[in-house]
Amino acid sequence: MNIDGRLLQPHEAEEPILARPVRAALMEWLMEIWSAEELADVGLKARSRALFHGAPGTGKTTLAHHLAARLGLPMLIIRPDDIVGRYVGTGISNVRSVFDVIDKIDEPCVVFFDEFETVAARRMTSGVNEVGEHDHNAMINALLARMDAHEGFLIAATNHASLIDPAIWRRFEIQIKLDVPGQGERERILARYLTPFGLPRDDLRRIAEAMSTAAPSLMRQFCEALKRQIVVGPKAGWPMEREAVIARILAANEPHPDLGRPRLWSLGIEDAAIRGLGWPLRRAADIAADPEPAETADQHDEHPPASVVAFPGRATSRGGD
Ligand SMILES: Nc1ncnc2c1ncn2[C@@H]1O[C@H](COP(=O)(O)OP(=O)(O)O)[C@@H](O)[C@H]1O
Ligand SMILES: [Mg+2]
Repeated sequence: MNIDGRLLQPHEAEEPILARPVRAALMEWLMEIWSAEELADVGLKARSRALFHGAPGTGKTTLAHHLAARLGLPMLIIRPDDIVGRYVGTGISNVRSVFDVIDKIDEPCVVFFDEFETVAARRMTSGVNEVGEHDHNAMINALLARMDAHEGFLIAATNHASLIDPAIWRRFEIQIKLDVPGQGERERILARYLTPFGLPRDDLRRIAEAMSTAAPSLMRQFCEALKRQIVVGPKAGWPMEREAVIARILAANEPHPDLGRPRLWSLGIEDAAIRGLGWPLRRAADIAADPEPAETADQHDEHPPASVVAFPGRATSRGGD
């Protein structure tokens, strides 16, 4: 295995927008790692192995990369193909050669196993395919042994937690489930990826509601498609009415079938969030300069409104005038 092209550097990382429990778990782990010396004094080691599970596009890779960046470390990506060979019986030797490479890297790094269910599926004893099962079980045993012996940080990600072998699961000292974002996170994700454009607070809330059950990756695709349309559409001579633009975007960005269809994709341009959407989109900075509307006082939820986070100027003008 060649490590060229598999090392992601800290400066390439993006900070994910996380639900509060996930953010808390992440902070707890970071604090622990930063306290490694003090922990060693009392005979403890900071935890070094974590499993992230959740649907595709919920931010598992992004979170792992962000965590590595917070530690100032590059992240080495190991994909299932590196281990699961094309030929029967090669799995066990691939585990060895991958870990031989990992253990020889002199600079510290976070090792990230992607699509881990493909490698670490439960051991089997059905007897249906004895040779295949024997090989797989031997590979899992090798994996367990090499994981135990490995000193550095290991993070694995999977879309299918239930497929992971239970003993492998227990080797991870932390298991974090990444859910699709809630309303507050959706508003912040939209605001981030629409930048430098923005939405007035009510529009942002309605679009975020219409995207309930969407993964961040789909939301990002939608926002980036919208910005692309705004830039390219007029040059290309495409119709630029709100409905025409949104219809083009929805047609070309279909949600993954495993995740269900957010309302916006079911109702399309008939969705109330689209019918009420101010058009054309404005720059976030211009929206922030608007006077505070009088009638939103009763709209308080437990999360700070996304626009306060995303649009500079809001935070200081809130309640001031
Ligand atoms: N929590 C999040 N906040 C902001 N962007 C996110 C978040 N989760 C995912 N994304 C974006 O969605 C895309 C897919 O994320 P990724 O980490 O590859 O998901 P996964 O590894 O779970 O399939 C990336 O472009 C990432 O920037
Ligand atoms: Mg991923």
